[in-house]
Amino acid sequence: MKLHHILLFAHLAGVIVWVGGMAFAHFCLRPAALPLPPAQRLGLWSGVFGRFFPIVWLAIAVIVASGFAMLLEVGFAQAPRSWHIMAAVGLVMAGIFASIWFGPWRALQQAVAAESWAQGAQALNLIRQRVTINLVLGVLTVLLATLGLAF
Ligand code: HEM
Repeated sequence: MKLHHILLFAHLAGVIVWVGGMAFAHFCLRPAALPLPPAQRLGLWSGVFGRFFPIVWLAIAVIVASGFAMLLEVGFAQAPRSWHIMAAVGLVMAGIFASIWFGPWRALQQAVAAESWAQGAQALNLIRQRVTINLVLGVLTVLLATLGLAF
C-alpha cells in the first residue's frame, strides 16, 4: 500500500460524508420535516446542523489536504486539467460552506433561541439554497473526477 492509496481513501471518505450528508438532508430529511410546525421543524434542523456542520469542517480539511497532497505528488504543471478544475470547484464549495456557517447558520441559531420563527424560516431557506448548490457542484465534481480523467 502506497501513501497515495491512503490519501485517496481519506479524500473519498471526506467526499462521501460531505456529499452524502447533503443528499440525505435534501432528499430524505427535508420532505419528512416539512409537515412539522415551525417550532419543531426549525429546532430539528438546528439540532441536525449543529451536529453535521462541524463534521463538514473536518471533511473539508481532509479533502483539501489530501487533494493538494495528491496534486503535489505529480506536480501542479503535470497534473491533468480535470484535477485543477476539481481543486478550483472544491475551494468554491468550501467557500460556499463558510458563507453558510458565518451567515444563515448563525442567524438560524439566534432565531431558534429567540423563538423568531419567521426569521428562522428565512435563514433555513438560505441554508437550503446554498446546500443545494454545493450538492450539485459536489456531484458534478465526482463526475469530473471519475469520467474526466483524460480531460
Ligand atoms: C481542494 C480540493 C481538491 C483537490 C486539490 C483534489 C485533488 C484530487 C486529486 C489529485 C485526486 C487524485 C486522482 C487520482 O489519483 O486518480 C483526486 C481524486 C478524487 N477527487 Fe478530488 N480534489 C479536491 C476536491 C474534491 C471534491 C470537492 C470532490 C467531490 C465532491 C472530489 C472528488 C474526487 C474523486 C471522486 C476522486 C477519485 C477519482 C479517481 O481516482 O477515479 N475532489 N482529487
